[in-house]
Amino acid sequence: MGPPGVFRRRWQRLAIAAVIFCMVSLSIVSSREERHHVEPPTDLQTRHPLLWKHIHTSNVKGGDAKPNTIIEAAHLVMHLMNSTKSQLMSHSEIPLIVHQTWKNTQVDTWPELVSDSVEVWLEHSVNEPMAYFLWDDDGIYQFLDEFEPSFTARFAALPRMVEKSDVFRIMVVKYIGGIYGDVDTHPLRSPATWVEADDLEPWYDFETGSLYNSTKPVRAMFGIEADCPPESDTYWRMGYTNPVQLTQWALASAPGHPILSRFMDRLNNVLDEVAAHYGGNLSVPAAYEELYYLDPLTLTGPAAITEVAEDWLEDRVGLRWNALTGLYDNGKSKLVDDIMVLPITGFSPGRGVYGNMGSKPLDDHDARLQHLAQGSWKGFNMRVEFGKFCRTFLGLCKDWSKV
Ligand SMILES: *[C@@H]1O[C@H](CO)[C@@H](O)[C@H](O)[C@H]1NC(C)=O
Ligand SMILES: *[C@@H]1O[C@H](CO)[C@@H](O)[C@H](O)[C@H]1NC(C)=O
Ligand SMILES: *[C@@H]1O[C@H](CO)[C@@H](O)[C@H](O)[C@H]1NC(C)=O
Repeated sequence: MGPPGVFRRRWQRLAIAAVIFCMVSLSIVSSREERHHVEPPTDLQTRHPLLWKHIHTSNVKGGDAKPNTIIEAAHLVMHLMNSTKSQLMSHSEIPLIVHQTWKNTQVDTWPELVSDSVEVWLEHSVNEPMAYFLWDDDGIYQFLDEFEPSFTARFAALPRMVEKSDVFRIMVVKYIGGIYGDVDTHPLRSPATWVEADDLEPWYDFETGSLYNSTKPVRAMFGIEADCPPESDTYWRMGYTNPVQLTQWALASAPGHPILSRFMDRLNNVLDEVAAHYGGNLSVPAAYEELYYLDPLTLTGPAAITEVAEDWLEDRVGLRWNALTGLYDNGKSKLVDDIMVLPITGFSPGRGVYGNMGSKPLDDHDARLQHLAQGSWKGFNMRVEFGKFCRTFLGLCKDWSKV
């Protein structure tokens, strides 16, 4: 069912063109800055050939679709999506476009774990082919100025990097569409195959008997990160806000899915409330303080996206949210309306015995993507660590800050 060869080749050329933007920005960055040398180039080249080729070195030549900025690349990809039957994830309307972010494109300063993971995404991007975008901090602001300029000041006012990153992933799939994966994740099988016929089978709410037999193409995909019996206290002892909670380290969507606008509306409502305390100006120090005090998990994180999905699907089709659990059906994928919810194994396979929650091994066919560092490289915060310890081992501190 793939598109004709000529479109496939155009897509591939564009995929590479899109990758190339990072080389352009890198060559500018690296020619200006002294590079504090971490790894000899030859080593980088041997161990991460695609990073070397597409992101680190700069030899942008040829190609009739050469974009000069990441925004031009984005418009090219979007134009191609309209003008041809673009490459889509099977059984879906989700374009095969990968988005990742890292603060810079100086590959030789990246943590090894990030280089390893991005290399795997690039392998899939070249082989499939998929378009690949690495958005650095500057690229993110270019994106905002282009697609939602009225939000730029609010975005800048978010006090934590993790919140900015949470919001950007929603916005980038809202406007461009595709697959977002944190740089400490990598695919375990090609994203083109992430939805298969089995995943679309009708399913029942085991408590109410309601049947879900949507036949719509998939337009958004989320994975479960926590799957606990709602009546037990295990979920909050493990640091989750909801017994069945969605992850945000990976997600995918067709452009324009209404759930993404709902996420932005919810966030804007909170920001409106805070701004109202400061004459509408979120850039004043006191507003920063107030925003900083909000829990990022519920402002922009997994708890936020879970709440938005829960409300949306309840309104649309009367879904009982906890029916999405995979604990009683060996972890089936569940299509609800046009949203595919993967079992915990989908984006969180290979969990240990403690807190396993039905997660199968990495080599299980249900496993689409591996999440490696669980945020450890994002910094260590004593207060959070104590909260985790307290919840996990003592069963206390339910409302202690989690991030
Ligand atoms: C793609 O098509 C839609 C609907 O026909 C249109 O609204 C949109 O502007 C087009 N986008 C591009 C980038 O051409
Ligand atoms: C799916 O639902 C429709 C009604 O929306 C019904 O007519 C059909 O029989 C159902 N299919 C299955 C396989 O139960
Ligand atoms: C908002 O506050 C900041 C910091 O006090 C100030 O620089 C900026 O001009 C203010 N913006 C508006 C629109 O009043």
